[in-house]
Amino acid sequence: MNFHIMTLFPDMVREGLHTSITGRAAAKGLLSIEAVNIRDYAFNKHQSVDDYPYGGGAGMLMQAEPVYQTYQAIMEKIAYETAGDGAGCEEPEQKKVRVVYLSPQGRTFDQKMAEEFAKEEDLILLCGHYEGIDERVLEEIVTDYVSIGDYVLTGGELPAMVMVDAISRLVPGVLHNDVSAEFESFQDNLLEYPQYSRPEVWHEKKVPEVLMSGHHANIEKWRREQSVIRTAKRRPDLLWKAELTEKEKELVKEYLPEKETWKSQ
Ligand code: ADE
Repeated sequence: MNFHIMTLFPDMVREGLHTSITGRAAAKGLLSIEAVNIRDYAFNKHQSVDDYPYGGGAGMLMQAEPVYQTYQAIMEKIAYETAGDGAGCEEPEQKKVRVVYLSPQGRTFDQKMAEEFAKEEDLILLCGHYEGIDERVLEEIVTDYVSIGDYVLTGGELPAMVMVDAISRLVPGVLHNDVSAEFESFQDNLLEYPQYSRPEVWHEKKVPEVLMSGHHANIEKWRREQSVIRTAKRRPDLLWKAELTEKEKELVKEYLPEKETWKSQ
């Protein structure tokens, strides 16, 4: 999968994402993470990319043209790489590529969205700065508005990095191959069960007996129960989307924080 990140701070994005698991996956060729500097597409000699907003108001806006030129350059690169080296003379058909603008005004990013974006071959992420971007270029190129939560950051770089990280780990081969089959938080709208490693006793706390038993069916049962209990205690808002048995619904009632009641669809 190829990520193309449009940003005024390419080093921040490169350094952040070419480390750890995403960095290793990029080195192996499973991902490509390209940070493109919007300033390289400034059309004046000072390389400025911002200007005052019409109608007045605080701060500066990113101008439409440098953003558009950056987008065009990325699209040309994608078209060229899709056509391959030995392409014929015909104009290749323009591929549809999703362009995500990171903004607190967007739809809130979640695991389901990460799964959906992971199906794309190319994904363009546009990071805003200052007070935002001229609306006209957003209308022309953006397909998805995405927020990472209801708070305001200084720019879209950290949100873009959050998205790349969450999406990358779903790309086959990026994590150990068996991981996708394992249980993760948010799978079935339940949080992950508690986990323990050596030593068997730590600060006088013992690892739950069932995990030492080697009895796989009992371990599975215990883990499922712990997931349900943990979700009831920590994220009761997720439970109404989870598929629970009647017995589990009874269990939930014991653990829901006060004021929460069981909501069925
Ligand atoms: N840019 C500034 N704040 C943001 C947020 N919460 N999510 C996505 N992009 C942003």
